[in-house]
Amino acid sequence: MRVLLAGGAGYIGAHTAVALLDAGHDAVLLDDLSGTHSAAAERVARITDRTAPLVVGDITDDAVVEKAFDEHGPFDAIIHFAAFKAVGESTQKPLQYYANNLGTTFALLRVGIARGIRSFVFSSTGTVYADPVDLPFTEEATTSVDLSNPYSKSKRMNEVVLADVASVNPELNVTVLRYFNPVGAHPSGLIGEDPAGIPNNLMPYVSRVAIGSLERVGVFGDDYDTPDGTGLRDYIHVVDLAEGHVAALEKSAPGYAVYNLGTGVPVSVLGLVAAFEKAVGHELPKQIMPRRPGDVAATYCDPAKAARELGWQTRLTIDDACRDYWHWQQSNPAGYAGV
Ligand code: UFG
Repeated sequence: MRVLLAGGAGYIGAHTAVALLDAGHDAVLLDDLSGTHSAAAERVARITDRTAPLVVGDITDDAVVEKAFDEHGPFDAIIHFAAFKAVGESTQKPLQYYANNLGTTFALLRVGIARGIRSFVFSSTGTVYADPVDLPFTEEATTSVDLSNPYSKSKRMNEVVLADVASVNPELNVTVLRYFNPVGAHPSGLIGEDPAGIPNNLMPYVSRVAIGSLERVGVFGDDYDTPDGTGLRDYIHVVDLAEGHVAALEKSAPGYAVYNLGTGVPVSVLGLVAAFEKAVGHELPKQIMPRRPGDVAATYCDPAKAARELGWQTRLTIDDACRDYWHWQQSNPAGYAGV
């Protein structure tokens, strides 16, 4: 299959490009480079020994998407990763988040459908599940658009748009993938997560403490109703997550389908820090802090539907993710900017 990856130079996009190329598909990356670096595309090519063309432009603009089709199409499928994703920033800049995170989808669908794509795969999030009584979350668990921040709301709004578009385009395969917490990096150390400024997410923060650019890990709350009092999350290795996209493309059938991509195994904040300490080989400074506003005690999925229908399941552990993230961090202490 020939696949256009919108946001393909980002963290999950670049890993998915590698997985697609390794599986014998063709991948073209389209990215505005607002949250990543063109070096990611070069490194995708280096890892796979294949070409991975990069088109740079604003993906909310139909003309930019048209250009990708004109220069590198036709495409069988689009995978849409392109989104602003800083949860805190989204509360300060709601208009930019809604405009970008929905506008990219509109342009990709308008052009993609006109140009005859057969499949559209969308990056969604497990944060659309609203009610902790449903844990572990199956795809049938209650979802809400009444979420704590515009980033998460924009993801759920996209799902609603996609379901409606699928219903009037019965020949189109529309697949929504609800990610849990992506972590880790490619084992080569050549591609990985490259957050700008001080990271918000746990593993990148812990890794910056390990490399010495941040002082200590703040553990946001140890009084949750969980086994060690810290928050539980379903951390999925980004290489497993990337393979989930290949499985979704290869198995998708016409209509609208939703799959959780997670491990199903909850890990606590202290559990993740301990796993990272094991990868680094020594303890890291840490401090218990107040709870972070908007956080939930626990979120983790039941990934059985993806196993059953896509033949996909995770292979890698939290220890693998910490080892690979640390390898990427040590090989690229300044991220892609140091390239
Ligand atoms: N945490 C800390 N200290 C930190 C950062 C996080 O204790 O410095 C804790 C949080 O309180 C939470 C857990 O680590 O219990 C995970 O937090 P993250 O910020 O890594 O991830 P979230 O579960 O908050 O999820 C967010 C977004 C999701 C997105 C996910 C991965 O809400 O939409 O990050 O990027 F999918």
